[in-house]
Amino acid sequence: MSNQLQGKVYIVTGGSRGFGLAIANSLVAQGARVGLLSRNQAGLDEAIAGIGRDHAFGVVADVGNRGAISAAFEQIKRHFGRLDGLVNNAGLARPNAIENLVEEEVLLQVQTNFVGTVFCSQAAIPLLRGGENPRIVNISSASAFHHDEMSHLSIYAATKAAVERFTRDLREELQHDGIGVSCIRPGNAWTSFSDGWDTVALQAGLEAWTHTGTYMDTGMEVAQVGDAVAYVVSQPVGVAVDLLEIRPNTLIPKISL
Ligand SMILES: NC(=O)c1ccc[n+]([C@@H]2O[C@H](COP(=O)([O-])OP(=O)(O)OC[C@H]3O[C@@H](n4cnc5c(N)ncnc54)[C@H](OP(=O)(O)O)[C@@H]3O)[C@@H](O)[C@H]2O)c1
Repeated sequence: MSNQLQGKVYIVTGGSRGFGLAIANSLVAQGARVGLLSRNQAGLDEAIAGIGRDHAFGVVADVGNRGAISAAFEQIKRHFGRLDGLVNNAGLARPNAIENLVEEEVLLQVQTNFVGTVFCSQAAIPLLRGGENPRIVNISSASAFHHDEMSHLSIYAATKAAVERFTRDLREELQHDGIGVSCIRPGNAWTSFSDGWDTVALQAGLEAWTHTGTYMDTGMEVAQVGDAVAYVVSQPVGVAVDLLEIRPNTLIPKISL
């Protein structure tokens, strides 16, 4: 444990499990405290119990609800007395062939992954402005860029491509305020991300993936994504990582089709 981030406070959306919890743990391991957001209290309570109440605080809010997000961010800043950064991590996918995607599946992915990143960034900017070394980190996905990621994730990949493009303008606009804006593009790591996916749609996506000839059996630990975020927010004043891609380089058991 280092104390590189001693005293700092970061909001992590989707901080109750998966990447978000790993990011929170990595930030806390370096001395920071974290404000976690998710849509359910039980998940937040469990995450906070694991991290410790002195270092973590949680607020239930949906990233797609602008009013709820603003209120939650202000509550977190009041609770800790400061705010140094935001990690836009909350996200989800609904795999399906484009022709079969229902309206709710399209809108849910756009609202959570892209609109949520926009709303959270808007809410954070006035709370970060004037801070010592403020940061916004947006979590993208390798599927936004690479052709060897799983098939039938078109809308998901498009929302992440939108996040990457949005990050570019956010970075340029916030340079005037000294707020560093970065994007991390992770590859596959096992989380609860695919819990609740429609099994028929998932199977079709995996089969389509094998036909592309790019089906890969690799995965990494969530802690590696957490440590990547800690690295990005630890950059000195005046320096920002623009885009950091981290992909697995380890074979894992093949998914049976
Ligand atoms: N897992 C991967 O291989 C992978 C690879 C590349 C990128 N990513 C990206 O990494 C991020 C985290 O994924 P993960 O694998 O950790 O997923 P996960 O295990 O399903 O966790 C998602 C987190 O986001 C929260 N969340 C979902 N919708 C939300 C909303 N509308 N408002 C607030 N919180 C919300 C969830 O809590 P509630 O459900 O309680 O709200 C949970 O805390 C996502 O942006 C994902 O696209 C994942």
